[in-house]
Amino acid sequence: MQPITCIEDLRVLYEKRVPRMFYDYTDSGSWTESTYRDNITAFDKIKLRQRVLVNMDNRSLSTQMIGQEVSMPVALAPVGLTGMQHADGEIKAAKAAEKFGVPYCLSTMSICSIEDVAENTSSPFWFQLYVMRDRTFIERLIDRAKAANCSALMLTVDLQILGQRHKDIKNGLSTPPKPTLANLINMVAKIRWALGMLGTPRRGFGNVIGHVNEVDSRGDLSRWTTDQFDPTLNWDDVKWIKDRWGGKLILKGIMDAEDARLAAHSGADAIIVSNHGGRQLDGAPASIDALPAIIDAVGTEHEVWVDGGIRTGQDVFKALALGATGTMIGRAYIYGLGAMGEEGVSKSLEVIANELDLTMAFCGLRDIRKVTDSVIWKGV
Ligand SMILES: Cc1cc2nc3c(=O)[nH]c(=O)nc-3n(C[C@H](O)[C@H](O)[C@H](O)COP(=O)(O)O)c2cc1C
Repeated sequence: MQPITCIEDLRVLYEKRVPRMFYDYTDSGSWTESTYRDNITAFDKIKLRQRVLVNMDNRSLSTQMIGQEVSMPVALAPVGLTGMQHADGEIKAAKAAEKFGVPYCLSTMSICSIEDVAENTSSPFWFQLYVMRDRTFIERLIDRAKAANCSALMLTVDLQILGQRHKDIKNGLSTPPKPTLANLINMVAKIRWALGMLGTPRRGFGNVIGHVNEVDSRGDLSRWTTDQFDPTLNWDDVKWIKDRWGGKLILKGIMDAEDARLAAHSGADAIIVSNHGGRQLDGAPASIDALPAIIDAVGTEHEVWVDGGIRTGQDVFKALALGATGTMIGRAYIYGLGAMGEEGVSKSLEVIANELDLTMAFCGLRDIRKVTDSVIWKGV
């Protein structure tokens, strides 16, 4: 096998090793996928100032995100169904993040439960919350995250309703997968994946099964989840969630300066500029393009992070240069997970850290906390 040198290498391997419906679930955006594509191309349009003959020795990528020490300002974003990309995927990703010294955020729609991840890791992780109509279930979920010693709650605010992804409908995506002939042939053909799945009991939504009355079997699950996202979620609920949780709160999915001001007033510890990786409003701008106006709106005393389209360390560097104090990667680590399990997630982090480190040096800096927009090339 050729050496893996970039995230694209992991994506190619991931496509070979994981059944089509789960590959498509990751590698797609809503409707025409224009926002999904723009998230990536917008980074390419930003150019950096190359500096020379400055001391580039002894560099550091270490910094903090919400007061937590991180080996680089990159967290693993919450990704639903991670445990269908690789057996016990959430545990594998959390372990890789822990070893690398970056935060891992577990999705509400994970396959491994909060308790599964807590039992198999020793550093606290973050928990991402989707708010459902069943508020008793949500209260219990928040309490379970507290009991598992999660160090932050990330409330996703851009998914009261679901964006439409054509491929998921055409593939009949469901958890667990429907036993159609096409799905069975595809799953058996991915032998490494199939053996892993046969070897784990974790194949349904771990945070839900057994925790709500209507869902005792996996068959009830798909219906329950689609019916449950609460379209009435609003700013008053943020206050309720903040009070119930009582710890660090991160709001994910802000794309508008006006919403950013409201988010800052809500008392959130960090806000994430995110269009959900181009999976919700197709036609929204790239998240990196939305970042500067949001930073202008909330000021530098608030932590503002960004995700969407980050595939390289150069992308992370550009996000920091435009004022973000942290970033998250979604697909970049899922490609690694599907390709090579925990080792692949570690590889994705190594690739990004190495690129970030060298980019910082090429731009004449040695400390990631010193990056400002002075590194952006503004034309001749
Ligand atoms: C397959 C997939 C599933 C996702 N599931 C969730 C989720 O359960 N909760 C959430 O807040 N965001 C979810 N997201 C969005 C990610 O947290 C993140 O915002 C996005 O992946 C960033 O874009 P990137 O993949 O280009 O890095 C998901 C993204 C993908 C690709």
